[in-house]
Amino acid sequence: MPDIVLHHPKGSSVQILLYGATIVSWKSPTNNAPPAERLFVSASAITDGSKPVRGGIPVVFPCFGPPTHREHGSLPQHGFARSSNWSWDHVIKDEKADPSVTLTLEPTPGITALYKRPFHLSFVVTLGEFDLTTELHVKNTSGSIDYPPDYLEFQALFHNYILAPAIDILITPLQNKLYFDKTESTEEGRTTGKIETRAGVDVRKFTDSVYENAGQNYEVTWPGGGVSVKTTNMKDVVVWNPQAEAGSKMGDMEGGGWDKFVCCEPGCVRGFEKVAPGMTWVGKQVLSVIHVARRHQ
Ligand code: BG6
Repeated sequence: MPDIVLHHPKGSSVQILLYGATIVSWKSPTNNAPPAERLFVSASAITDGSKPVRGGIPVVFPCFGPPTHREHGSLPQHGFARSSNWSWDHVIKDEKADPSVTLTLEPTPGITALYKRPFHLSFVVTLGEFDLTTELHVKNTSGSIDYPPDYLEFQALFHNYILAPAIDILITPLQNKLYFDKTESTEEGRTTGKIETRAGVDVRKFTDSVYENAGQNYEVTWPGGGVSVKTTNMKDVVVWNPQAEAGSKMGDMEGGGWDKFVCCEPGCVRGFEKVAPGMTWVGKQVLSVIHVARRHQ
């Protein structure tokens, strides 16, 4: 599948597919080791463009999970952004700045058949020596001047598959946050909110938890490593690992794949974001490698 690869002069790199604007590789050094892969992609992932990629960083838009908004009627789970072909817009390669690429997505006949709202998406990826920044810009391209405004209502999320020994990971700081445990959903998809009691959240069992207004900055750590996830304008976070219980039923999940990652997915998924005609909403995350030496200081 067509892709774009950015290289940083200090050794890091990122690979982005036009299909789904899915980041499928992020290699970064730490201050004491050469560049290494930081994202998980299933060895059984489908990469012919017939299905979203199982791994990396798929972009979820305009619905999270099955559609629940009246305007999202027949959309597939997690929307169309992760299964649409995006266009390459421009690359910035300036010796004084970190390399960056922008991909865009506008309504196509395939999208319009399922989703009638006017929008323009830009996905901006910027590569640092030790970090990776992704930004989703959602523009409401409606020209309506009616009142009340013709809002674009959506959910958005970065579905980060962080390469990590799942058995040993902890995600902080989520203690005392309200969350919804989707592994306990009723048949209608309803869940009851609970308060997180753990200082560090693990994924030793099948986990599918949606934390609301979760604080926007997280650390995923394990002995010898970690990645921080710092976000702007993405109020919620989802922690997901299917373990064998759900992972073994997924056709595109490699056997034992669930031991190799944790999904720490910042987004706006409880309720809907609203953007007025002509306006743009921006959600951003910065993923950074946590230097082991620094953690033990
Ligand atoms: C998570 C959801 O974000 O994505 C889970 O909370 C879902 O419920 C998971 O199972 C994977 O979704 P998909 O569509 O890629 O299999």
